[in-house]
Amino acid sequence: MPSTSLTGETTECGWHITEKISQKSSTGGNFCTQYIVINEDGRKAFLKAMDLKSVMQKDLQDIQGLIGEYLFERNILYLCKEENMTKIVTPLSSGEITSKKYSPPLNRVFFIVFELADSDFRTRYIEREGTNWIDFFRSVKHVCIAAEQLHRAGIAHQDIKPSNVLNFYEDNTTKVADLGRVIDENGMSPFNNFEYAGDMTYAPIEIRHRHVVDEFSFRILSDMHSIGSLIYHKIMGVGISVATINESTYISPDVLSSDYTSSVEIHASGFAKLLRRFKMQSEECLGFDIAQELENIVSEMCHPDINLRCSNSRKFIPPKVLARRYAGKLNTVIRLCKVQGVS
Ligand SMILES: Nc1ncnc2c1ncn2[C@@H]1O[C@H](COP(=O)(O)OP(=O)(O)O)[C@@H](O)[C@H]1O
Ligand SMILES: [Mg+2]
Repeated sequence: MPSTSLTGETTECGWHITEKISQKSSTGGNFCTQYIVINEDGRKAFLKAMDLKSVMQKDLQDIQGLIGEYLFERNILYLCKEENMTKIVTPLSSGEITSKKYSPPLNRVFFIVFELADSDFRTRYIEREGTNWIDFFRSVKHVCIAAEQLHRAGIAHQDIKPSNVLNFYEDNTTKVADLGRVIDENGMSPFNNFEYAGDMTYAPIEIRHRHVVDEFSFRILSDMHSIGSLIYHKIMGVGISVATINESTYISPDVLSSDYTSSVEIHASGFAKLLRRFKMQSEECLGFDIAQELENIVSEMCHPDINLRCSNSRKFIPPKVLARRYAGKLNTVIRLCKVQGVS
């Protein structure tokens, strides 16, 4: 494919493509190939490339659709940059490159260059033992800040998962990447009519029942769910969606074939069991006080009942600033880690 054979080429904006990142380490994102690139000053960066080969045999609408998705992701990324969203990965350049190995129109490859991260959340935390817990909770806090930055601008990410969260060691910062599936309040996104455009493995339970509410706050709650799942995933070794479905189908094997409203109680009781185990495991790793905080955070963020998720019986919190509340709670966790000597 044209986008997979770019090593050795140089973009018009001066990025020399030096190395393809093995597909195995990627998450099998749809049509993209990833490369390391370097410019004249010796700065390294990350390039994501996409070509039209997969839709060439299809009709014009599919070709147009794919280009539309690329342009939308690029525009959203630049919007985030303009709005100074510090916890969203920054694009450095974008454009089109012509592959010499193919003839027109297949030789057209579209790319975006990003600042280069040192690792993603999956390789740094999920697949690795011996975590530095303070770094871990700081990373999740940064994801909350990223979500707040997006939500305030009327954007919901819809695909927050371990491989889409990037770590930058020099600045001790974590940022959210892969804005290819976002939906936006203004209705510009090609995915606005999708029940869920992100990875279904991480989709909250209501989405698995195809229960979709046509309100932006509903999309925000699905992002909150995915962030809570990052904590659960690290401690229990599996995402909360998969765990909830396993638990609920154990209670009632056909639960996923019923509608959401009539199944939510089953999910809630499965979820309560999961939380008890989660708290025990957290206590073993981090002690009682931290485990209690974490149980509270995950139970709010990941609750299978969307009417209870992230709700606060004492005061109404506008959905667009909900993520900040959890950034605050993670600060408490970080403080507790420091006081109790957990590192
Ligand atoms: N800026 C970056 N620096 C380093 N690695 C990155 C960067 N952006 C993405 N990656 C890696 O490449 C993988 C795929 O990138 P992503 O943007 O998620 O595209 P997709 O999932 O659509 O293929 C990520 O899971 C991550 O491991
Ligand atoms: Mg991805």
